[in-house]
Amino acid sequence: MTRTASAGTYRLGARTVNRLGYGAMQLAGPGVFGPPKDTPAALAVLREAVALGVNHLDTSDFYGPHITNQLIREALHPYRDDLVIVTKVGATRGDDASWKPAFSAADLERAVHDNLRHLGLDVLEVVNLRAMFDVHGPAEGSIEAPLTALAELQRRGLIRHIGLSNVTPTQIAQGRTITSIVCVQNHYNLVHRGDDALIDQLADSGTAYVPFFPLGGFTPLQSSALNAVAARLGATPMQVALAWLLQRSPNILLIPGTSSVGHLRENLASAALELDTDDLATLDALGARP
Ligand SMILES: NC(=O)c1ccc[n+]([C@@H]2O[C@H](COP(=O)([O-])OP(=O)(O)OC[C@H]3O[C@@H](n4cnc5c(N)ncnc54)[C@H](OP(=O)(O)O)[C@@H]3O)[C@@H](O)[C@H]2O)c1
Repeated sequence: MTRTASAGTYRLGARTVNRLGYGAMQLAGPGVFGPPKDTPAALAVLREAVALGVNHLDTSDFYGPHITNQLIREALHPYRDDLVIVTKVGATRGDDASWKPAFSAADLERAVHDNLRHLGLDVLEVVNLRAMFDVHGPAEGSIEAPLTALAELQRRGLIRHIGLSNVTPTQIAQGRTITSIVCVQNHYNLVHRGDDALIDQLADSGTAYVPFFPLGGFTPLQSSALNAVAARLGATPMQVALAWLLQRSPNILLIPGTSSVGHLRENLASAALELDTDDLATLDALGARP
């Protein structure tokens, strides 16, 4: 068993993956647009992730656009049998790097084919429909039409499993009337705890919850309480933030993003970190603050 696997596993669609995975978004250029500053370094991060036991990669063809998928293909294709690549559709990029909704049936079919082509796959294992009613967070709105279109691509054999991203509990319930929802990917971390109740509900139904921005996103978490727990444990604040998520609920799968092999190794080593009840109480209190 690799050290990464010591954090345990969880079901993701028809597959079982290590709870510590990797999110590839940070491999594209600044603003998730254009190529990386250092392509060999980006390829090295992907190869090291898999070498260290990561078997769950998160990506999208709108990162770059196309860039992260092309890097994944160059670094890792032909893929190991146990590697699960999860992608997402529902957005596109403007020439100015903006993020725009792309929710029509034609947009979604194009996005699925773009992902297949750039990843070098015949079928996508898991595709998240990324809701864009508000680009920055979940907002109500019907997902019936786009999800029905995605389910049709699933029926045609282009997609095995479907998940939802940036969604509300109402949208998840609506989604479940259309197709099976195997995972939910929303913004959640130590200090951004709006999905606490949702995570517990999804755990009850055996559904994976995959927090994006687990380290705080483009501006990683900063907190003196987090630093104090990390110092006591001889760990780094980012490792403690990940260990807290691992202990928060068994259905949480982590996809911390980094463009650095050093940070990758540090993040994966959080699998071995155990927080005691005092640490958990200190960290839980961070999420209670307004
Ligand atoms: N569904 C969605 O809408 C959505 C939205 C955003 C992201 N995502 C997915 O979620 C994944 C994770 O989110 P994210 O990458 O944006 O945010 P994140 O994992 O919360 O944090 C990434 C940031 O933390 C830094 N970092 C990583 N490890 C570190 C360490 N050990 N010490 C110090 N800094 C560290 C990274 O910089 P360095 O590169 O310098 O390490 C980067 O700036 C993405 O890769 C993407 O796959 C999904």
